Amino acid sequence: MGQLSLSYLVAAFLVLLATPERSPVSSAALPMAANASDATQYAAPPTLRNLSRTPHVVEVSLVAAPARLTLVPGKTTPVFAYNGHVPGPTLEVYEGDSVIVHFINELSEPTTVHWHGLHIPASQDGSPFQPIMPGARHDFTFRIAPGTAGTYWYHPHPDRRAGYQVAMGLYGAIIVRSAHDPIPASVHEKLLVLSDNRFDSSGSVAFADSGTPAALVDAENGREGNVLFVNGQVMPTISIRSGEVQRWRIINASAARVYRLSLDGAALIHVADDGGLFEHPERTREIVLANSDRVELLVRGDGAPGTRATLKVLPFDRYDPHTRPADWSRELDLLSLRYSDSTPVAPASIPTTLIHVPWLDTTHVAARRTLVLTQGMINGKTMDMNRVDFTGHVGTTEIWEIENIVPMHHPFHLHGFRFQVLDRNGVPETVPRWEDTIDIPGHESARIVVRFDDFPGKWMFHCHIMEHEDMGMMGVLLLE
Ligand code: C2O
Ligand code: CU
Ligand code: CU
Repeated sequence: MGQLSLSYLVAAFLVLLATPERSPVSSAALPMAANASDATQYAAPPTLRNLSRTPHVVEVSLVAAPARLTLVPGKTTPVFAYNGHVPGPTLEVYEGDSVIVHFINELSEPTTVHWHGLHIPASQDGSPFQPIMPGARHDFTFRIAPGTAGTYWYHPHPDRRAGYQVAMGLYGAIIVRSAHDPIPASVHEKLLVLSDNRFDSSGSVAFADSGTPAALVDAENGREGNVLFVNGQVMPTISIRSGEVQRWRIINASAARVYRLSLDGAALIHVADDGGLFEHPERTREIVLANSDRVELLVRGDGAPGTRATLKVLPFDRYDPHTRPADWSRELDLLSLRYSDSTPVAPASIPTTLIHVPWLDTTHVAARRTLVLTQGMINGKTMDMNRVDFTGHVGTTEIWEIENIVPMHHPFHLHGFRFQVLDRNGVPETVPRWEDTIDIPGHESARIVVRFDDFPGKWMFHCHIMEHEDMGMMGVLLLE
C-alpha cells in the first residue's frame, strides 16, 4: 500500500475516532472495528446445568427474557436471551436420556421453543401450534431417541415471529452424545454456532422499516447481517497444535446467510450432517451449511507451529439475480486458527468406519408427494394454521419430491423426522446420510425418503429462511 493511501486511511480513521458518540456511524464501520482486535479467544457457550441426580435424566431450566449484552465492541445491545446468554446455553444429553425443560417466557410476546431436529412427540415440538404466552411457564418432556447422536439446536417458532426472535438472540445448541462414540475421546471438541446480525449506530439490532425497498430485499433474500459471529464472538481465535485433530460441531443459526466454509492450512474431514455421523469419514476442501444445517468436521492441524490460518466464508450465490446483494462475492473471515509453538503431535487415528448407516427401505412406499417451491409458497399456498396440507400414517414410509421452480435457493426443513436424500435432479445419491434440512438450489429438485415410525400429530415443513417461514412458506403434515 502506497504512503498516500495509507495516510488517507489514517486520516479517515482519526475522523471516525473524533465522531461524537451520538452521530450516526454507518453500520458497515462496526465489523471493521470488531475485526481490528484479534485478542478474542474462542469460547464455547455455557452448558445448561443438569438439576437432576437421577441417572439418564436431564432436568434444566430455561428462561427467555430481554437482556442487554455487548455483542459488538463498545456498544450495549438490547437482546432477547436464553438464561442471559447469546447464543443460549447448550443442552447436552445422551441418547436415551429423559429430558425435562422448565421453561419460562419472560418476554412481552408469545414464544415457543422448537427442538430443531430432535425426534420427539408432536406435543413437545414447540411448533407454532403451541404458543407460550408472556409470563407463562411450560415444561417440555421428551426422551432422546437411541441412534440419534448428533448436533441439533433450539430456537423460537411462534407464528410469524420466529425470524424476529432469533435475530434478537434466541438460539442455542443441542449436543446428543452416544455412549459408544467412534471418534476417540482424545479428540477435543469445539462447538461453533454461526450467526450474523446487523446493528444501528446505537448498537441496537437493526431491522429495515416495513414498506421500504430494504425491507422488500430482506423479505426476498432473508435478512443477512454484516457482522458475523461464532458463539456470539466476532472473529475468535481457536488454538491448535500442529498435528492435533479437533472435532468441530458447526450449526448455521443464521436467518438466511449460507456459509460456504474453507480453511487453508488444515485438513477437513466431514464426519456428520444434521442427523449424526456418516458411515465413513469424507475428506473435503469446503463445506456448505444452509440455514439450520449442522455438520461435524474433524479438523487436522497441518500448519507449522507458530503459524495462523483463517476459516473463511466463500461467496455462495443463493440469490435471485434481481435482489442479489452487490457485495455477495466478497470473501469474509469468520475465525482464526492459531498454531501453538509446541512441537507437532502425531495425529489421532480416525476409524475408517464410524457407525452403520443403512438406506431406508423403499420397497413399500405409502405415499409419494410433490412439493413445488416458489418464492414464498409451497404448492401455491401460504401457511394456514387451520389447514392440513398432507395426511400421512404412522408406520409408513413416504417419498417426497421437492421441486424449486424459482431462481433462489430454498432450504427445506421437516420437523420431527430425519430423512435421507435419494437423488438430486434425478442423480442418485451414493451414500445415505441423515438430514432434516436440504437446500434446494434454484430450478433444481430433490427426492427424499422419510420413515414415520411413531409420533402422530401435526408436523410443520417449511423453508428455513426465517423471513420465508414467517411469511408462510410452510405447510402442515398430519400423521394419524
Ligand atoms: Cu428450525 Cu421449523 O425449524
Ligand atoms: Cu425444525
Ligand atoms: Cu425460502
